[in-house]
Amino acid sequence: MTKQPHAIYDDIGIGYTTRRQPDPRVANAVRGALGNVSSVLNVGAGAGSYEPQGCNVVALEPSLEMLQQRAEDAAPAVQGWAESIPFADDSFDACLACLTLHHWRDQRAGVEEMIRVARERVVIFTFDARVQSFWLYDYLPEFAALDRKIGPDVDGIASRFSSAEVLPVPIPHNCVDGFLGAYWRRPGAYLDTAVQAAISSFSLVKDREQGLARLGDDLKSGLWRLRYGELLDRRELDLGYRLIVGVCR
Ligand SMILES: C[S@@+](CC[C@H](N)C(=O)[O-])C[C@H]1O[C@@H](n2cnc3c(N)ncnc32)[C@H](O)[C@@H]1O
Repeated sequence: MTKQPHAIYDDIGIGYTTRRQPDPRVANAVRGALGNVSSVLNVGAGAGSYEPQGCNVVALEPSLEMLQQRAEDAAPAVQGWAESIPFADDSFDACLACLTLHHWRDQRAGVEEMIRVARERVVIFTFDARVQSFWLYDYLPEFAALDRKIGPDVDGIASRFSSAEVLPVPIPHNCVDGFLGAYWRRPGAYLDTAVQAAISSFSLVKDREQGLARLGDDLKSGLWRLRYGELLDRRELDLGYRLIVGVCR
């Protein structure tokens, strides 16, 4: 029997749903990108954020810890990996993947698998590390380096489809889903260990204490406000999050 890879979310996904709930504005963007489909495979589905209502959804997720956090009335789920999707060709109208590609062992293989099982379209909510601009990286350049290393090749993925759109997803100032960019207008949140626990970069980058201490000092002294205070008047911000909407055929 082939040994299954270890699902890192069995370790870092504990308590995920405490801080990670779908943001309704991001959910609207994802729903709009899916269009009028009636069946969806959600790959790297986690606890089920961004799964559309009103159509048949199946979730695919490798981590038992994450599967256990799915609500009782959530879509049916299968344990498995993007790189070897356990469904036949053309099984679903659409394939969806939200904030998961950067964790895949082989992103290219996973995307090919999504294209194989989707009849109409593939929708990916991710980030483009080349266009990311975020004040937090001034304090934690190691996070930027990690994102450049594991961030999806957005143009390369888009070029795999007969046609594709790459749409910016501006992040609202009060984003409900506590991913890395969510707290851009609430800088003190990044010092909160509960917030940190729900963001994978904090688990994957060990070298962060100095940067966080500097952020704490700058918030106290007013230097943060002096440097970035104009952001406090903004309601949403483009931090490099993107929806890739690929038409299969
Ligand atoms: C940040 S969570 C996102 C979960 C969910 N899509 C959401 O938006 O809340 C990343 C998910 O990707 C899953 N994952 C990691 N590697 C994967 C792989 N190779 N194939 C499929 N899913 C994977 C993790 O187990 C985890 O549930």
